[in-house]
Amino acid sequence: MSKLKQVFQSQFHKEPTLSAFAPGRINLIGEHTDYNGGYVFPAAIELGTYGVARLREDRQINLYSLNFEKTGVISFSLDNLDYNADHQWANYPKGMIRYLVEQYPEINTGFDIAIEGNIPNGASLSSSASIELLTGHIVTELFHIDIDRLDLVKLGQRVENQFIGVNSGIMDQFIVGFGKKDHAILLDTNTLDYHYVPTEFGEYKISIMNTNKRRELAESKYNERRSECEAALALLQKRLNVQTLGEISVEAFEANQDIIKDDVLLRRAKHAITENARTKEAYDALQKHDFETFGQLLNASHQSLKEDYEVTGIELDTLAESAQAVEGVLGARMTGAGFAGCAIALVHQDKIKDLEKQVTEKYVDTVGYAPSFYHVDIADGVRTITELKGV
Ligand code: GLA
Repeated sequence: MSKLKQVFQSQFHKEPTLSAFAPGRINLIGEHTDYNGGYVFPAAIELGTYGVARLREDRQINLYSLNFEKTGVISFSLDNLDYNADHQWANYPKGMIRYLVEQYPEINTGFDIAIEGNIPNGASLSSSASIELLTGHIVTELFHIDIDRLDLVKLGQRVENQFIGVNSGIMDQFIVGFGKKDHAILLDTNTLDYHYVPTEFGEYKISIMNTNKRRELAESKYNERRSECEAALALLQKRLNVQTLGEISVEAFEANQDIIKDDVLLRRAKHAITENARTKEAYDALQKHDFETFGQLLNASHQSLKEDYEVTGIELDTLAESAQAVEGVLGARMTGAGFAGCAIALVHQDKIKDLEKQVTEKYVDTVGYAPSFYHVDIADGVRTITELKGV
């Protein structure tokens, strides 16, 4: 934080007046269910994005990221908040600023923001939702706007959908906004009802394992999966009176699946519907401290994402499957959108070193380079860190 403040000062020649943090997230289970009206079960993590900021007197907005030092300061005016490919990473904050400005005319001056994230890039730990919500929090705080947290979350999703062009669901922004220390959230994406559940795994810990492979073409494949689910839903709706795949039980699906003749669409729907059931079971299992069952559900989730949803790939499969084979691991699966990024494992605290060693060996053998491992605390959602005196 102190480095970030120094950087702010050397870039903008004044002290920042506000400091904030937005977490990243893991998703325990409930993958690719959020745009299907199903359940998700994410938790915010202490890896995330830090930001410091200060109001200006003119209408200029300056954004600087320590993660993209070479790009330098990205500047634009409050009067032109259109998407601009040249602005690269800054389009995430810019989209958020745009939608806030449209809604809140009291945002009538520019500001300077410097940020630094410690979420590895492209790791499927929601660095983009983290930047979106961080920006939303900073701007609303700078202008003393009393915005409902859920509205801020929805604006973040809108940035992703309309400004950036990824048709993602609400999970990432929701958990970055509503995360709670040492708790996961079971969120019903249909109703937005949610429950906090303590992430108490007894003698077990969650390990995050990074493929260190950058996601490529993930956005187009993501949007393709979403359309496939919509197509499968349209077929099932000929028989079932439902609005989303999330409303269909596994039994009702099995009784009506013959209406989907296309094997790909059939498997996509099967994943969305069975994953939704697994997520509810995992929630029950965690509440009962039945970690064995919880772990088996993680394994089944990975299998379904690999075979039916086809969003894993050799890197994520090697991580999850080699972790599953380690003694003391109750379960492992990819987390987030897939294609690359991270997997998680539920591992006995005395077996973490074994996990890292055995998975690394297998991964290097199969993929050719090493994975990374993180052990992080489950964190609160986006928040102000300190408020410094303004000038
Ligand atoms: C990405 C999206 C989320 C969700 C996951 C998959 O993280 O942003 O909305 O769909 O993929 O579960």
